[in-house]
Amino acid sequence: MKFFVDTADIGAIRDLHQLGVVDGVTTNPSLVAKSGRDFKEVVAEIAAMVDGPVSAETVALDADGMLAEGRELAKIGDNIAIKVPLTWDGLKACKTLTDEGRMVNVTLCFSANQALLAAKAGATFISPFLGRLDDINLDGMELIQDIRTIYDNYGFETEILAASIRTVNHMKEAALAGADVATAPPGVIHKMAEHPLTDKGLEGFLADWKKTGQSIL
Ligand code: E4P
Repeated sequence: MKFFVDTADIGAIRDLHQLGVVDGVTTNPSLVAKSGRDFKEVVAEIAAMVDGPVSAETVALDADGMLAEGRELAKIGDNIAIKVPLTWDGLKACKTLTDEGRMVNVTLCFSANQALLAAKAGATFISPFLGRLDDINLDGMELIQDIRTIYDNYGFETEILAASIRTVNHMKEAALAGADVATAPPGVIHKMAEHPLTDKGLEGFLADWKKTGQSIL
């Protein structure tokens, strides 16, 4: 499973990038607003740092507007994935942009039928939002499983990009469900390395090592 980082925070991306765990980055208008940075400027910095796809979201509601914005964003770099919402206009824009050879991430997906339409429209990525479904007491992971089954039944190549990830359990379950990619906030990716027994074990080893009076260097 590929890891994308869901943030517009350059420092956090750089930190994870140095560890080699960043296969791509996703941004959205809320994350850009949170960064306080100029949208195109911050996306350009991210796209220069990371080799993999960097999703940049359009904000127009009509297909022509999305096409104009998408083409403008694509000028930033070859690794820009244009993000469009899962609406009829978004699907229209997706079809045209993918026909032009551009990467498209269809976002705000909350049903298997929406994901099926995005695949038919040639989406590079489909972004089902797990956390937001869980927030309203629905099962976000069941959606990932359904999309996996449907895409495999028909050989669709659209990659399932598990989004709106809130916990480390979401990461594990998305991997078990066969998501191609998971995009998570930096904090969730950091937490994946943590376990209380690792901390406790390390504490014990260091206490015993001290008793030996030895040093490695
Ligand atoms: C990613 O592409 C999405 O924009 C993001 O995962 C949404 O996450 P949220 O539901 O926590 O805002």
